[in-house]
Amino acid sequence: MTLEEKVGQLVQYSAGQPTGPGTGRTDYDSMIRKGEVGALFNITTAREVNVYQRIAVEQSRLRIPLLFGLDVIHGFRTEFPIPLGLASSWDPQLVERAARVAAREASASGIRWTFSPVVDIARDARWGRMAEGSGEDPYLGSAMASAYVRGYQGTRLDAADSIAACPKHFVGYGAAEGGRDYNSVELSEHTLRQFYLPPFHAAVDAGAATLMGAFNSLNAVPASANPFTLRQILRTEWGFQGVVDSDWTSVAELVAHGIANDGAAAARKAFLGGVDMDMASSLYHDHLAQLVRSGEVPEARVDEAVRRVLRVKFALGLFEHPYSDEVKEAAAMLRPESLTLARTAAEQSFVLLKNSASPGGAPILPLSTETRTIALIGPLADDQNNMLGSWAARGRAEDVVTLRAALTQKLGVDGLRYAKGTEIIGGSDDQIADAVRTAEQADVVILALGEDAPAMTGEAASRAHLGLPGRQQQLLEKIVATGKPVVLLLFSGRPLTMPWAFEHVPAVVAAWFPGVQAGPALLRALFGEVNPSGKLVVSWPRAVGQEPLYYNALNTGRPAGNIDLTRPPKNGDEKFVSRYIDVPNSPQFPFGYGLSYSNYQYGQPRLSKEQLSAGALNDELCAGGRASNAAVEVSADVTNTGTRAGEETVQLYVRLQGTSVALPVRALSGFQRVTLTPGETKKVTFTVGPDAFAFWNDQNKFAVEPARVTIWVSPDSSSGSEATLQIVK
Ligand code: BGC
Repeated sequence: MTLEEKVGQLVQYSAGQPTGPGTGRTDYDSMIRKGEVGALFNITTAREVNVYQRIAVEQSRLRIPLLFGLDVIHGFRTEFPIPLGLASSWDPQLVERAARVAAREASASGIRWTFSPVVDIARDARWGRMAEGSGEDPYLGSAMASAYVRGYQGTRLDAADSIAACPKHFVGYGAAEGGRDYNSVELSEHTLRQFYLPPFHAAVDAGAATLMGAFNSLNAVPASANPFTLRQILRTEWGFQGVVDSDWTSVAELVAHGIANDGAAAARKAFLGGVDMDMASSLYHDHLAQLVRSGEVPEARVDEAVRRVLRVKFALGLFEHPYSDEVKEAAAMLRPESLTLARTAAEQSFVLLKNSASPGGAPILPLSTETRTIALIGPLADDQNNMLGSWAARGRAEDVVTLRAALTQKLGVDGLRYAKGTEIIGGSDDQIADAVRTAEQADVVILALGEDAPAMTGEAASRAHLGLPGRQQQLLEKIVATGKPVVLLLFSGRPLTMPWAFEHVPAVVAAWFPGVQAGPALLRALFGEVNPSGKLVVSWPRAVGQEPLYYNALNTGRPAGNIDLTRPPKNGDEKFVSRYIDVPNSPQFPFGYGLSYSNYQYGQPRLSKEQLSAGALNDELCAGGRASNAAVEVSADVTNTGTRAGEETVQLYVRLQGTSVALPVRALSGFQRVTLTPGETKKVTFTVGPDAFAFWNDQNKFAVEPARVTIWVSPDSSSGSEATLQIVK
């Protein structure tokens, strides 16, 4: 390969609908012919893929196939719930199956590389990209990260229906100051390693073929030119062999960051910092060969990066099968079994936040089959486009069954009264008045309110106010004032602060953005054909001022303890603690929380041992052991005291005290989904090994130390009874 041909493999452009600022280049045909492009993205059909691939394979000197990428974030044509919703299922197998469907559809269109999963820890609901990931917890995030990778990549990358994964954005992106997208990030090495890196490590261990660097600076060094994270941690410590891609123009952005004064310096710093491939900025194309000639970049380093890119292309079988079958493409999309899975995934993503009694006595949900007339109101009740979420890949609005469509089919036009009520933003007094009249004519009102998915969630969609947008709060209050029983369905990419609603509306469901099967899934949940089982993967704030808000926080030196934080402090003891004077510290709903139509009772956790040895645990840790002699079994009885069968996600939390660094008041260390029939009790057992007790200590070592351990087996992160044990030397 000539030096230019090598550099060509490290260059990538968007040749379709742009997902970032433009770069000015469009002459891809001639560049590909000259071997100056290694990958293209944002193309979505087999036909377009083949047009470009033919130029690469039939007209370039070395005939190296192009790699085609796309943001396939929660489905390709069959759109699943947004990742925040998928994670709320607490079901990694479901996520793996959804990713498999996405891989099958994307590969049928010639897309063999997805810029997914988003494994950024998100502790701040202002940050719009919370919607794209699996929430705030590293343990759950790691389980989801590997599930996505397994689903996309399958058992073999060279299977025709496998696609390469690209966990992103490495690293710290979710900790943007103030929740403002692309903003700077400051994270201590402890916090980085303890909370932000584990999902990436899990994705790498699951075999992710590529990884994407982030936009943000991390402790003043941009993540896309950061040898500490990209070289030391990723390559040396974790042994990652795959390709590191930049984010969209993040190489060029090193100039704006202020660590490069021109394009050549940006290319040099990004490349030597550990970024193999330049997405969209064209600076490797413009400068890398010259940087090698001038001796600023060793050619051996370029060779190394090119080998990584070529290895992924070989692994995908692109050299043997560069083209995609245009005839078979359509048949791969929206298969019945894919749609069934999309419906199941949506059903499992819903989180029942509140379900209190109607004036008659019984909880409002599930709706009785006797319900004669329903008023369906709200801007999201019949909005196909919004159900697709913020990254719809090739999803089409027309594929979506809305709640209105599903309800009309069930109840007929006579049983359903519909009024839009207001726009997501905007709307008129007349619309609200019409909605109030509609509500008055019905037995029950279902309100579908929330955010605009493309405009208000996902990338570049940070919000400083987290209430219902536009006039929706006004609409909500007017409808509740009719006195009719109200079920509020919230469609959003993040938790919304709406204390009034949680006080006054009897039933509230977090529905996220559920995907193509939104309507049928909601219908089944509303009428109790399926029992809600989703649980929050982010702490739900009462007020924006609580953000960043996360359950696995440190205790501080002045914890508020049992002080009543619902009123202002009355004396020094109540005042000089870590608190707000105007809102409780606690979330509206904690991480892990979610109701169902059943009730579950948790017994006292029992431990197989009262004492563990730090030495033995550390030996196991070094040997890579999980379940072992050094571990403890923790079990608790969980009983379904309700009248319906249901699935409960039983959670295990751990707290360590007396250690060299302060650790969270609780850390998730296990979870299991258990099916329970009415009256049934199951003993749920967790084997808790060294991984749960080890942490990044004051020497930046991952190890177990002597500690007092508190363990909970509980339905969420803020309740449950505890058991204790000691870790001795
Ligand atoms: C986003 C990435 C995405 C890329 C390509 C960027 O703006 O940050 O997540 O993969 O665009 O679309």
